[in-house]
Amino acid sequence: MDLRMIVVLAVLTGVTGSSNATMRPETGSVDTAGDLNTVPETVEDTLVFGQQQNEEETEEDVMATGELNPSHYPARRAAIVVQHYLNSRYGSPNKLFMVHRVHRACAEDVPDAGRKYQLDISIQEIMSNAMEECSAEVLFPRGEQPGSAEVRASCEELLKINSTTQDEAFYQQHKNNQTLVSAQYLPDSYGHITPGMEPLRTLGTVASSFIMLNQSSENTLYNIAQVANLTQLSTENSQLKFQYHVLLHDMVSQEIINWKLLFTWSPAEGVKIQQMEQLPHVCEKLPKTN
Ligand SMILES: *[C@@H]1O[C@H](CO)[C@@H](O)[C@H](O)[C@H]1NC(C)=O
Ligand SMILES: *[C@@H]1O[C@H](CO)[C@@H](O)[C@H](O)[C@H]1NC(C)=O
Ligand SMILES: *[C@@H]1O[C@H](CO)[C@@H](O)[C@H](O)[C@H]1NC(C)=O
Ligand SMILES: *[C@@H]1O[C@H](CO)[C@@H](O)[C@H](O)[C@H]1NC(C)=O
Ligand SMILES: *[C@@H]1O[C@H](CO)[C@@H](O)[C@H](O)[C@H]1NC(C)=O
Repeated sequence: MDLRMIVVLAVLTGVTGSSNATMRPETGSVDTAGDLNTVPETVEDTLVFGQQQNEEETEEDVMATGELNPSHYPARRAAIVVQHYLNSRYGSPNKLFMVHRVHRACAEDVPDAGRKYQLDISIQEIMSNAMEECSAEVLFPRGEQPGSAEVRASCEELLKINSTTQDEAFYQQHKNNQTLVSAQYLPDSYGHITPGMEPLRTLGTVASSFIMLNQSSENTLYNIAQVANLTQLSTENSQLKFQYHVLLHDMVSQEIINWKLLFTWSPAEGVKIQQMEQLPHVCEKLPKTN
């Protein structure tokens, strides 16, 4: 086994191993992006479901309609899409949203459009530890080449959270610096994160939410497992520019997917993705345990 594989396996174990969230940094301030560990009672379901799912199987089996059990998968999968949406739109190096709990979920078929989920979810903003119950709608389009999910969410209080001061400090630190920052393994395979690297990890999660939002369907449940590495690139303009390699975990297929991301960020403009590229798999499936 090469080293990279070991790291990935260690990360995976952290994600799925037990209800003790080993992925948490010691500060406890960030739980990456709403790992299933936050709803421990669904972890068992998740693993069983993941293992049983046949790749050829179509959606029909899992597509419940009407009122859904809020702690089960279909509700959870739709809710996490709302999280990715909020992070892609409003996240920053110091602002990160996470689904805390699904209170109510309801699914319906919308003729000629797709499947629509209506959700009441508690969403948490990690840095300020604020929480709000939001109502949201997620439409998964149907068709030959269905586009990305369409999301609407009303979380007025959370959107008032102002991270301008911290974001500005982060910006100044990296804009006017002789050294371009670089880092790897956020967090490491023990779930630790180097002090001071938290905003860079959060920024990686926010940028990854663009991929996760784009790739999500009713049959996925994406979280970021790890920032494998990152490099800041120099720019001529006012933006900060980064290249990140991230490992995303789909709880349903148990795949770890390696993506390369090129993006810019500034307090005023937020994240602007310049390039996202899926790299060859590092690890096809979670190995079977006996
Ligand atoms: C979780 O961690 C605590 C303290 O680290 C430990 O006492 C407990 O046994 C762990 N639980 C599981 C399920 O691993
Ligand atoms: C997002 O996904 C759609 C298809 O679902 C694709 O056409 C589009 O190119 C993707 N966007 C990016 C930025 O990759
Ligand atoms: C956020 O706070 C900064 C300074 O604390 C202030 O200048 C800015 O107007 C605030 N932004 C919003 C949207 O409230
Ligand atoms: C420049 O970057 C280094 C390493 O990231 C950091 O320790 C230092 O505080 C930064 N300098 C300024 C002026 O922000
Ligand atoms: C960053 O991580 C990717 C994916 O794991 C790897 O292919 C690449 O070599 C790494 N780059 C550096 C500079 O470590």
